[in-house]
Amino acid sequence: MASTNIILCFTSLLLLLLQIYADPISPYASNCGEILSGEAGGISYKPFELSNVAERCIWVLRVPRATSYNVVLYNKGTSASDKVIATALSQDKPEVHTLLSVVDTSYSVNGSVAVITFYAYRGTGTSTGFSLYYDAVLNETNPVSPYSTDYVISANETEILYPRIGGVYANNELSTFIFTPNFQYLLNQRVTVNVTVLGMEQNCDDLLTVYQLPAIPSSNPTWMKLGRICGVDNQVALSNSDVIMLVFQSDESYVSSGFRLSCKLN
Ligand SMILES: *[C@@H]1O[C@H](CO)[C@@H](O)[C@H](O)[C@H]1NC(C)=O
Ligand SMILES: *[C@@H]1O[C@H](CO)[C@@H](O)[C@H](O)[C@H]1NC(C)=O
Ligand SMILES: *[C@@H]1O[C@H](CO)[C@@H](O)[C@H](O)[C@H]1NC(C)=O
Ligand SMILES: *[C@@H]1O[C@H](CO)[C@@H](O)[C@H](O)[C@H]1NC(C)=O
Repeated sequence: MASTNIILCFTSLLLLLLQIYADPISPYASNCGEILSGEAGGISYKPFELSNVAERCIWVLRVPRATSYNVVLYNKGTSASDKVIATALSQDKPEVHTLLSVVDTSYSVNGSVAVITFYAYRGTGTSTGFSLYYDAVLNETNPVSPYSTDYVISANETEILYPRIGGVYANNELSTFIFTPNFQYLLNQRVTVNVTVLGMEQNCDDLLTVYQLPAIPSSNPTWMKLGRICGVDNQVALSNSDVIMLVFQSDESYVSSGFRLSCKLN
């Protein structure tokens, strides 16, 4: 009897070890605003819980040397009005937004960085969140600078000096700045982001691209590109009733002192 117990015990220990060593996937992100950098990983956000009304929960997949991400949804709420959007950002290609709508389907999100947006409908929250897993496709010659950074800001008021005092940004950057106050759209609230350019290489060689989410739910809400901010712009005031995203890109030569972002919820 004792020896059977010892064998059983040994077997479970072995199984446990096998489980640990067979599973290289990083822990799943379950909080809004997380930046994921594991070569494989996932997001599991309220898969068995009702989402709040008009949630705007955003994650960034930023895996060093990634050129693409294979993303598979394995849970999705029943509401067709709640959207999960994957945005592929690259240095040399325009952004691509893909609606992740069908479970067990592999979506190719062809970018060095992928922004995952959970956009819940403005009506009553009647549907659950979602879960997904991803694998990054790497290319050792991908030139995106390791100094690139991601900010997902949910505070009502923020000041960002980019890069830090006295510094310059790097060449080949692809950085993101996302303003999603309280991770939720509210009627009558406005997000203001003032951009002050301190120094960016001229002729839009280094630039900020501005995107926003629409507050009025359409059948296919997605990020809209509003325009670009370049070195000749001194100060630009952005305002939207929903989320604002800025993507900073620098080319392979010349750097400068960057910009200041001042965000406020009114
Ligand atoms: C991504 O790249 C793959 C392989 O190059 C291609 O088959 C696919 O259509 C691309 N997907 C999108 C959404 O552009
Ligand atoms: C990696 O990137 C380089 C430069 O962009 C490209 O020439 C090469 O084909 C890529 N390799 C793979 C395996 O995709
Ligand atoms: C941020 O704004 C929201 C909505 O106006 C408000 O409910 C919340 O209390 C504010 N948070 C802080 C820390 O001021
Ligand atoms: C943005 O600038 C305007 C005009 O200069 C100012 O009234 C506003 O308070 C500023 N907003 C933020 C968030 O700094």
